[in-house]
Amino acid sequence: MHLGFDLSWTHLEGRWRLPGSWSGVTFPDVRLYEEIALLAERGLIDFIFFGDGTGIPSTWQGSPDAAVKWGIGWPRQDMSPYIALMSRLTRHVGFGLTYSSTFMHPFYVARLLNSLDHVTGGRMAFNVITSTRRADAANYGFDELMDHDLRYERMEEFIAVCKALWDSVAPDAFVWDRETGIVADTAKVRPIDHVGRFFKVKGPLASVPSPQGRPVLIQAGASPRGIRASAQIADHVFAMSPGLERQTRHRAVLDQALADQGRNPQGVGILWDVVLIVAETEAEAKRRREQLLTVVPPEAVGAFLSHQIGYDLSKLPAQFTILGINEEITAGQASPVAFLNMTRHLDPQATMSREEFYDVLLRRTASYEETLAGSPAQIADYLEEVFEATGERGGFMIAHPPVTPRDLASVVDYLVPELQRRGRFRTAYGSRLLKDNLAD
Ligand SMILES: Cc1cc2nc3c(=O)[nH]c(=O)nc-3n(C[C@H](O)[C@H](O)[C@H](O)COP(=O)(O)O)c2cc1C
Repeated sequence: MHLGFDLSWTHLEGRWRLPGSWSGVTFPDVRLYEEIALLAERGLIDFIFFGDGTGIPSTWQGSPDAAVKWGIGWPRQDMSPYIALMSRLTRHVGFGLTYSSTFMHPFYVARLLNSLDHVTGGRMAFNVITSTRRADAANYGFDELMDHDLRYERMEEFIAVCKALWDSVAPDAFVWDRETGIVADTAKVRPIDHVGRFFKVKGPLASVPSPQGRPVLIQAGASPRGIRASAQIADHVFAMSPGLERQTRHRAVLDQALADQGRNPQGVGILWDVVLIVAETEAEAKRRREQLLTVVPPEAVGAFLSHQIGYDLSKLPAQFTILGINEEITAGQASPVAFLNMTRHLDPQATMSREEFYDVLLRRTASYEETLAGSPAQIADYLEEVFEATGERGGFMIAHPPVTPRDLASVVDYLVPELQRRGRFRTAYGSRLLKDNLAD
């Protein structure tokens, strides 16, 4: 079983307010990230992960005001320098960084990740995303979201360009011969001459090949088109945990898509997003879970959810059905999967009022329903059940811990030993390279 720490939201959505969270430090103080890196390495965690978003959410009422006020989806830093610093204190734990293939240029991203792979000694993963968020799009010159399927075409070309660049200089191209003064072998450095629908890149990448050759590629497509892209691109897939039935279906659809691409499904794990509070006793974990209901102000809910799906929920009619809204979301090129996921506890055909909807979704914004709270044995039971039902590949991204860094320390101190006792988790890192550790 593989474990990641997803730090994307630890300072957001009210979690920073909980007792013991971000204590004595304010985001983005690098010292807390350094502390987490040491903690993760002590727990033999595979990698620390950062999702991203580059705009201040403004989907709600067409304004960023609510997001600015309540800290919805912002502030965020580019985490690449943080990773560089965390890597200097550690030797094995890996790092996952997110950039958008919808907006960014593959040459820049390929170059940056190459350097990070050097600095970290081969511990980088790249989470490549398609973007559904209007606030992000507006910072890169787009008035509208790119068509859903076009986003995936661009992603596939984006990764093809990155891979060609990472391969454009052979691993043994550099000779650095002091006698002759020759730096590199011209036969081993080749342009890529890429001309595609979205990008034109001559190449080669003017950099030294990195320890892993390229970062581990992680991708989180959830729609049928998204899963097809995962099958083409991903070394490992990142996915939500919408319930065991849908997770086993996701695994089956991905396996088929991988086989269609001629890839071995055994080699591609799914890392399921799990939100958990593990404590010495179930009662303590459950008590702590109740705190989640106090952290998100009701005024922040609409802004948070609208940002997540790229659709302005302030426009909801007084009465509606989930199914009806979903059709509008699909028509607007936003993310129906994100919407269906957040409303999965509700009857899609039932008529509901705006007030009822926000009441339910406050719990969703706080991740209340999906937060597993239990003793180490209870949480390990759940993880084992999902792991076994989904083909014993991949593992879990421990996301949105309510209290940082205490809940991460509890994973290291309580959950990891329990998983080790059950023979489900490593007792030492096998390699300095992230790709090897994730492949074990
Ligand atoms: C587990 C998971 C993590 C994601 N992380 C990010 C992220 O950090 N930033 C972002 O803009 N989108 C993120 N996304 C959004 C996806 O890239 C994608 O746009 C979204 O899942 C819609 O998928 P679909 O196009 O297949 O419907 C994430 C999605 C999932 C499922």
